[in-house]
Amino acid sequence: MDSREQIIELRRELEQHNHNYYVLNQPTISDFEFDEKMRLLQELEAKHPEMFDPNSPTQRVGSDINHEFKQVEHRYPMLSLSNTYSPAEVKEFYERVRSGLEGEDFEICAELKYDGLSISLTYIDGQLTQAVTRGDGVRGDDVTANVRTIRSIPLRLKEGSGYPHEFEIRGEILMPWTSFEALNREREANEEPLFANPRNAASGTLKSQKSQLVASRKLDAYLYYLLGDEIPQDSCHYENLQRCRQWGFKISEGMRKCKTFDEVMDYISYWDEERKHLPVATDGIVLKVNSLRQQRHLGYTAKSPRWAIAYKFKAERVSTVLNEVTYQVGRTGAVTPVANMDPVLLAGTMVKRATLNNEDFIRSFDLHLGDTVFVEKGGEIIPKVVGVDLDKRTSDMRPVEFISVCPECGTPLVRYEGEAVHYCPNDTTCPPQIKGRIEHFISRKAMNIDSLGPETVDEYYRQGLIHDAADLYKIGEMDICGADGKRIKSARKIVKGIHDSLQVPFERVVFALGIRFVGETTAKLLARRFKSMDALASASLEQLLDVEGVGQVIAESIIRFFHDERNRSLVERLRLAGVTMEIDDTAQEGATDRLNGLSIVISGVFSRHSRDEYKALIEKHGGKNVGSISKSTSFILAGDNMGPAKLEKANKLGIKIINEDEFLQMIDEM
Ligand code: IVH
Repeated sequence: MDSREQIIELRRELEQHNHNYYVLNQPTISDFEFDEKMRLLQELEAKHPEMFDPNSPTQRVGSDINHEFKQVEHRYPMLSLSNTYSPAEVKEFYERVRSGLEGEDFEICAELKYDGLSISLTYIDGQLTQAVTRGDGVRGDDVTANVRTIRSIPLRLKEGSGYPHEFEIRGEILMPWTSFEALNREREANEEPLFANPRNAASGTLKSQKSQLVASRKLDAYLYYLLGDEIPQDSCHYENLQRCRQWGFKISEGMRKCKTFDEVMDYISYWDEERKHLPVATDGIVLKVNSLRQQRHLGYTAKSPRWAIAYKFKAERVSTVLNEVTYQVGRTGAVTPVANMDPVLLAGTMVKRATLNNEDFIRSFDLHLGDTVFVEKGGEIIPKVVGVDLDKRTSDMRPVEFISVCPECGTPLVRYEGEAVHYCPNDTTCPPQIKGRIEHFISRKAMNIDSLGPETVDEYYRQGLIHDAADLYKIGEMDICGADGKRIKSARKIVKGIHDSLQVPFERVVFALGIRFVGETTAKLLARRFKSMDALASASLEQLLDVEGVGQVIAESIIRFFHDERNRSLVERLRLAGVTMEIDDTAQEGATDRLNGLSIVISGVFSRHSRDEYKALIEKHGGKNVGSISKSTSFILAGDNMGPAKLEKANKLGIKIINEDEFLQMIDEM
């Protein structure tokens, strides 16, 4: 087999394994074998740039380029469904269909209503060519690059499976509960705002400008509507979707054809309970007339088809008594009010606390202590107070007064203009803030000192051993082995764990500092750009803003952090302890001056390296990366989908365009 054939064969194999894993949930090889094959394909594709294919399985990793989404007009408008919450209205729908079809027999296809983000996919010759969000129903965002990273969406359909030359298929993009919970846990650790439900998380992810981020967020997709000029006019919806499954799409296993109204109601009551065990969020049932001919006969109203309806499940809601409001102080000083209620069973779990978000939220309900409140858990994972039963209010109940001083240290709280959150400004001596910062510092994604945990941090803080992260490095075995020395073994382990963290790379040290709004990814980008703590600490606003993903808020927060004398001294003490304060320079090995004096513009989407890596390569070889094309631009390093405006400008000025392979050859980094 020559390499070309090998590439084709590997692509076919990997597509099949993707399908087995993500659509059928039945992997047939180990992750390790899969990764090996992927690596081999990447290598071969790198050697054969002429074989590049945007739909190759290697392209699912995404890129970190910033695109403004292109707006695309839908070929067929994306309508919505009329909604109902009552069985009586389902009956009315059923009867309307019956009389609309003038007594003809009909079948109803009943299916789950997935609670995500609707998407329309176009396939031509079995290849995914475009993915567009619903938008306003007439035009949506072209999110093809992001959608390509979703493993259960086939980029190429199964050959010979009989798909039409061109068609559209619509469905829902979802974030499975497990991914959603993991994402929120991570965001909580970073003190980033949580996503309220998987739909918001999926939508926020898909609309992200970085497909690499999308690739990391494990989205899923179910398809439920096939359309196009080549779909047989006399076919049926249910049967068409079974065919789509053979082409490679993920189609719900839960679809049923119903012949009577009672069958429809049975389906609804079955799934109202069963849906709680599904891996993704659903918020109702969709009923569709199965025959396409009958669908056409029934037609559309201005907004929705007459041949379909959505029955929405009621969010589970219970009432309970509010006993007390307590307040939590986070590592940034943010104060969150929490409702403490009589325990109550809600959607299978015992609930006794619910977030009250902030003062405005409490005011909006005019909440009183002793109130009977309604608590809901719809698509949301965190229980939410959604209302107050005013009939149960009595005259002896007092309104909830938001606190004015920190419950932990007594400092008057502040509320910054335009923000809903109250903060305790005492970041020097407020205990939960101090402990929170140290806990963040030792956390897995920061310095990864796993021999310590929140309890030990709390203990050492109370003993006066530590006041900040730098104090950790002064701890000796004798300080923590107990008066009788009984805990010497664990003391050794702890001290070793702390010592080992001196090896943690610079980017994680940047993250560990806990600069507000600087999450893991931003820390990485900052570390790569500035290379040392000194350079980062003295960076100007402009230099910070120049880093991808860093906007005004983050840049100002970084400046504020290093402006503070206490933070500068913390960094100095960490430096003296031996914590890594610059990027490992082996990456700079092999630097040359091949690009000396050249101004290079980067444009488009790349497959071998990220944009930031190309920037680094340009600098490493003595060149200068510039933002916009001008007469003095030496050449453009262009990936796929270079913007048309840039292309035109380059042509007009006669500036050479170089692809990534040519560029890598030029600097001998192939
Ligand atoms: S069919 C013309 N089927 O619910 C009919 N929609 O307002 C097109 N949805 O925007 C939609 N699950 O995002 C259909 N099994 C399902 C669905 C479904 C979820 C969403 C879809 C649509 C909304 C209806």
